[in-house]
Amino acid sequence: IPVDEFDLVIFGGTGDLARRKILPGLFRRFLAGQMTEGSRIVGAARSDLDNAGYRQMIRDAIAEFGGAEKDDAGLDGFIDRLHYVAIDATGEGGWSALSDLVRKDVVKAFYFSVAPSLFGALAERLHTHGIADADSRIVVEKPFGRDLASAKALNDTLATHFSERQIYRIDHYLGKETVQNLMAVRFGNVLFEPLWNSHYVDHIQITVAETVGVGGRGTYYDTSGAMRDMVQNHLMQLLCLIAMEPPSVFGADEVRDEKLKVIRALQPVETHHIVRGQYDATDDAASYRTDVENPRSFTESFVAMKVNISNWRWADTPFYLRTGKKMKGRASEIAVVFKDLGHSIFEGDTARHRNILAIRLQPNEGMDLQVTIKEPGPGGMRLIDVPLDMTFADALGEDSEPATDAYERLIMDVIRGNQTLFMRGDEVEAAWAWTDPIIQGWEARNDVPKLYDQGSAGPEDAMMLMHRDSRRWRDIK
Ligand code: BG6
Repeated sequence: IPVDEFDLVIFGGTGDLARRKILPGLFRRFLAGQMTEGSRIVGAARSDLDNAGYRQMIRDAIAEFGGAEKDDAGLDGFIDRLHYVAIDATGEGGWSALSDLVRKDVVKAFYFSVAPSLFGALAERLHTHGIADADSRIVVEKPFGRDLASAKALNDTLATHFSERQIYRIDHYLGKETVQNLMAVRFGNVLFEPLWNSHYVDHIQITVAETVGVGGRGTYYDTSGAMRDMVQNHLMQLLCLIAMEPPSVFGADEVRDEKLKVIRALQPVETHHIVRGQYDATDDAASYRTDVENPRSFTESFVAMKVNISNWRWADTPFYLRTGKKMKGRASEIAVVFKDLGHSIFEGDTARHRNILAIRLQPNEGMDLQVTIKEPGPGGMRLIDVPLDMTFADALGEDSEPATDAYERLIMDVIRGNQTLFMRGDEVEAAWAWTDPIIQGWEARNDVPKLYDQGSAGPEDAMMLMHRDSRRWRDIK
């Protein structure tokens, strides 16, 4: 369904995110017919470019990052929608040109794909130049602060000129197909919800394992670490969606109210329930410390933890979270591990049979439900566990990669004015309020992360975290 006609201004329009994700994503939406005739995209950045120069830059970016669609004949049509304004975020240069370009009578969205230190200056100028109005939307990226104090300061800065319903804080995990499917599965089936509590669920595992290292982002990453980069936002959001109570309707505030309650019910994490790791060198790959050019870095590239939620539903069900770089596979999944059967009627069957609902975010998006059945054949009542596999691509007969990636879906939601998949200010603050003491504890103790082998499942201590509870992590394939 096409969205309303819009002008989307991307501050940082020449940057990495714009070239890799935002513009290729918009191009796909254009090809899908979602960008209504007349809608425009304005790149705004410091570089001294004109429209032609910008259009060429984005043409190249789409050729490099655009995926299968890059040769499409529609490219010219899309490129025609692009404009460029050279702008000085903290000065006056370019602002009247931008003001002339942006139209009054269409949906206006301003994407702040810039350092958070510029948010205030941009918000202020959009306001004083009369470019944004009470219905305009602004989109901001993570990192949204690096602790509670800085997140509050950013929220306050944005609140000076924009109301909460105008602010779209992106967490791209919320735009992933399976993450939304998680809500459909939980709240669209009668099957799961009655079992979704500590009477039936033994524990939940959330894994986001990456094979990549810190790449070219060493400077940023080394001041952040896995806790700030992944746990405070992406893993926290996944945990919220798994753990939240059913909202009365699938509306922005209803969903976010429920997520907020989960974050506020998180218990502080005990020190011995967290393992930090840092990847070591191998014969042919550099260590984390070399990658970030900081030989004394104590920053973690891996973290595993056991988290408890103090509420009626989850009182006895721990959540185990882990994420890391340079691990043995790229695998993100949430596994809901149900309790053992209390009693087996099958003589001689001593194996532990468990139902497990595994929700795969990537790759190979889908779910499988492990169930116990009789082993086929004449061997009597021998039980085996098999997965009921629902790979979305097979089930829906589409290509294995989803047609819409997280960014393009979220940007279209901005234009539609739907905030359901965006983080509200109080949610972000609550997540930091929970994360801060953990990080402060590490800093105060000068905590040294455990080294782990590249291509492994993380440090040995992460295995122990589970073993101590007589549980084990699922394999990372
Ligand atoms: C980003 C982090 O938010 O998410 C990166 O900053 C990480 O460090 C990335 O690699 C992972 O995203 P995805 O979509 O590839 O799982």
